[in-house]
Amino acid sequence: MNISIIGAGYVGLVSGACFAELGNHVICADNDTKKIVNLKKGVLPIYEPGLEELISGNLKNKRLKFTSKIKDAVRSSDVIFIAVGTPSLEKGDADLTGVENVARLIAQNMDGYRLIVEKSTVPVETCARIKKTISTYIKNKYKFDVVSNPEFLREGSAINDFTHPDRIVVGAESQKARQIMRQLYLPLNRQILVTDIKSAELIKHASNAFLATKISFINAVSRICDKVGADVQEVACGMGLDNRIGRYFLHAGIGYGGSCFPKDLDAFITIAENLGYDFKILKAVRDTNQEQKDFVIQKVKEALWIIKDKTIAVLGLAFKPNTDDLRNSPSIDLINALIQEGAKVRVYDPKAMGKARSILKNVTFCKNSYQVARGADCLIVATEWNEFKELDFLKLKNKMQRALVIDGRNIYDPRYLKKMGFTYIGIGHVKE
Ligand code: UDX
Repeated sequence: MNISIIGAGYVGLVSGACFAELGNHVICADNDTKKIVNLKKGVLPIYEPGLEELISGNLKNKRLKFTSKIKDAVRSSDVIFIAVGTPSLEKGDADLTGVENVARLIAQNMDGYRLIVEKSTVPVETCARIKKTISTYIKNKYKFDVVSNPEFLREGSAINDFTHPDRIVVGAESQKARQIMRQLYLPLNRQILVTDIKSAELIKHASNAFLATKISFINAVSRICDKVGADVQEVACGMGLDNRIGRYFLHAGIGYGGSCFPKDLDAFITIAENLGYDFKILKAVRDTNQEQKDFVIQKVKEALWIIKDKTIAVLGLAFKPNTDDLRNSPSIDLINALIQEGAKVRVYDPKAMGKARSILKNVTFCKNSYQVARGADCLIVATEWNEFKELDFLKLKNKMQRALVIDGRNIYDPRYLKKMGFTYIGIGHVKE
């Protein structure tokens, strides 16, 4: 098929590269000309494992192209994906300016039937608005369909999530649209849930909100574990063995972050509010996440007594491993709070140092985990990168002023660290 993807962000780039890999001809459009110039040379704006290879391979075999001219993308494709950003507005609702703009440009440049696929995370009833916008601005009475096809990929494992999704959700009105979508995803050989458009739109927000709820729930349980000396890892394992609960997304830590959960939760709360429903559970989920971040600072204070002038080493800046994404990263919030308290902060992340330099001021950027620990009174693990799991603790201890580890992601065995001479503080993670 001839596909165009409007918006070369995370979702757009991964979807574009994967659809090209499946044998389609894909053209990715973005109005950021600098980004497009770089992408044409195979230079990516983000780090995502495997993506660079996938893009350069498909650029070479000419199944993937990049353009800053949306008109070219609209003209040369049968299926158009909208994958532009939908950032939060002040009140928490999604800014749909980009989506509306793309809908107008599609309408003005269509020269025949088009299937328009909404992939960005948008409030319920957005597809209906896209349809209305296109009908208003279309020049000739060409036929078109709008479908909702939310994307569930996670940063750090995006390619595998795209090619091996648990489910593909398609919300469509016409038989033709359903058929094209089925054909498009046929090579993946995965379960496709075909439903009405509004339900498909809601599935995305409901899923992300539910996953965030699981995380806040286990973080709240970790607080109880801390108080009584139980281990949240054991509790999560015991809960997860029940198939009705499941073992995923029960990892306690310093709170969730990223470009999706915080934004989508705010949006879902606002959507509900606008519809006259007070989504109290989700407000509590959001509050619990904030409390968890504050709680880590509390732990640092308890351990160090006075934070001012202490040297604190932070391992990990990205909001999760295998990405360089710093958006809503709990690590960045933590670092800013430590700086506010007067700490001297040293930081290291395997991939996010470049991006961090432009947003973090007054910290020392280090080359590796041992350099970051030099002279530190305390070392905090804020992101669970694999390389942090395999440190030489003897070497680490010799670099530090004081052998204190605050394990914000519960990646270490408390008994082992104690044996190595460290004071270990986890998140509800206690093993006697
Ligand atoms: C999420 C959804 O998982 C994905 O389906 C959607 O398309 C986009 O939003 P992403 O934000 O890339 O994906 O990462 P995810 O792996 O879901 O993690 C989100 C945050 O939750 C991270 O900060 C992570 O550290 C945290 N998290 C996750 C926990 O604290 N505990 C867990 O058990 C799982």
